[in-house]
Amino acid sequence: MMSDNAEEQITQNVLTSMANTPNPRLKTVMTSLIHNIHAFVREVGLTQEEWMTGVQFLTRTGQMCDDKRQEFILLSDTLGVSMLVDAVNHRLSVGATESTVFGPFYRDGAAELPLGANISQDGHGEPTVVIGKVLSTDGKPIAHALLDVWETNENGLYEQQDPEQPDMNLRGKFHTDNEGNYYFVGIKPVSYSIPDDGPVGQMLRGLSRHPMRPAHIHMLVSAEGFAPVTTHLFVKGDKYLDSDAVFGTKDSLIVDFIRHDSQEEAERYHVTAPFYTAEYTFALKPL
Ligand code: BEZ
Ligand code: FE
Repeated sequence: MMSDNAEEQITQNVLTSMANTPNPRLKTVMTSLIHNIHAFVREVGLTQEEWMTGVQFLTRTGQMCDDKRQEFILLSDTLGVSMLVDAVNHRLSVGATESTVFGPFYRDGAAELPLGANISQDGHGEPTVVIGKVLSTDGKPIAHALLDVWETNENGLYEQQDPEQPDMNLRGKFHTDNEGNYYFVGIKPVSYSIPDDGPVGQMLRGLSRHPMRPAHIHMLVSAEGFAPVTTHLFVKGDKYLDSDAVFGTKDSLIVDFIRHDSQEEAERYHVTAPFYTAEYTFALKPL
């Protein structure tokens, strides 16, 4: 039977060839992958030119990757796969702060800063006080929870993308106080373009899609004994909230960034007016 690899037979032949896979999870994943890839080829009647275009596209995607650029993750993000993987892995997180994409711009080793510190080292952008609490999903405050935060500068670039910015600009780690409170000063985030000078950018143009992400601040919130959450705070009113290039928006993560013009109020936070405040309460699920 295996000697005949006609169209009707080939899918079953590939599945039969994997019948002795010892790792049951690998067998499940590969079986489904073969079913779905073969179904895709049949459904669209993939031409040999299209198949080669796909091979070359994936080759260029791999060649674009280095220690600063991860084009494959960008591809996964822009196809909604990263968010879907996130969603299927958080089906049981009811009541906890929703998660979203991690993205490629996190850097380990941000400085641990006292509450109220300013993460902008160059003073660019509109100062923003981010303030709130970290609670357990049962409503109790979590003392000493860690918030690891990062955002772009007002030019839409993360510090590692921009030689003009100080090293580790707009990154910091903060711990909640005994009542679960946190606050820090950052800048009002801006909408920005994901890297679009590679194969993913080409794909987006081919699909008449823009490469923009709505303005956001990244947050990794964790505490001992709780499931950590990788999330963002999005700016209410941003024009890209409905068309995020990486499908990362969630309604529950959209926050009103409120403008304040009082210099007296600004001095309380060691910033200058005008400034913004953004308030958000995080909820973590006990393990
Ligand atoms: C980000 O928000 O940093 C990001 C997420 C996914 C792809 C590119 C950038
Ligand atoms: Fe980002």
